[in-house]
Amino acid sequence: MRVIIEPDAAAVSNRAATRVADLIRRSPACVLGLPTGRTPLGFYAELVRRHREKGLSFSQVVTFSLDDYIGLPPHHSASWAAYMRRNLFDHVDIVPANTHLLEGGTEDLSGVCESYEAAIRKAGGIDLQILGIGPNGHIAFNEPGSSLGSRTRVKTLTPETLEANAPSFEDLDELPRLGITMGVGTVLEARSCLLLALGEEKALAVREMVEGPITAQVPASALQLHPDATTILDEGAASRLLRRHYYRDVEEAQGRLTRAAGTA
Ligand code: PGA
Repeated sequence: MRVIIEPDAAAVSNRAATRVADLIRRSPACVLGLPTGRTPLGFYAELVRRHREKGLSFSQVVTFSLDDYIGLPPHHSASWAAYMRRNLFDHVDIVPANTHLLEGGTEDLSGVCESYEAAIRKAGGIDLQILGIGPNGHIAFNEPGSSLGSRTRVKTLTPETLEANAPSFEDLDELPRLGITMGVGTVLEARSCLLLALGEEKALAVREMVEGPITAQVPASALQLHPDATTILDEGAASRLLRRHYYRDVEEAQGRLTRAAGTA
């Protein structure tokens, strides 16, 4: 896994936005997998800025949500759809029909899961899956113990995840106990994965993801199996990595090579 350590959250957001903007410019009809949560807020704000100030167009981009809650009223502010409209979709030229949702409000949840996998296949697969990580090592709502081959399905949320997500709910009685989520196997099929993590509260999970054994107890560790997975971290999230100095050396060496190739 490629590990990029940036000085702060703004630099992480900027670096991730550059990766996405480069992909969209190269491949305007690319397919993105998108997360919610606190971590990507600055990243979405930076994409909106680039749309407004630099003409970055989402007019052909296709998106798939990574997960959502089950049982929330459709327009609840904590739902994936509301979050994405608020933070990205309402501010760029994306076509609503190209934004795929995991709809947790219906009764036929297994049908929703199957058609979601089919829709991803029909779109030609996900080119770039953006991810966050939970303090317990989850990716999407794949909580510890999730099969590393799992597909889109319903998951019961852990007490840690409920606690972390509680601030998005004014009324805690509304906090759903179940989520609907792409599986670890679904995530691993994306052509590239990009996981963002901010702050010391993610540092242990990040170390287990990058340097620990591959285990269903830390679903993010499955990214070690992916041929093109990158994590972009701020100093806090990188603070418990045992080889963090080496990862910096790798990036510096890579930068020198790229610059040399550019001047050759
Ligand atoms: P956060 O959530 O970005 O709000 O920390 C990440 C996650 O739980 O996957």
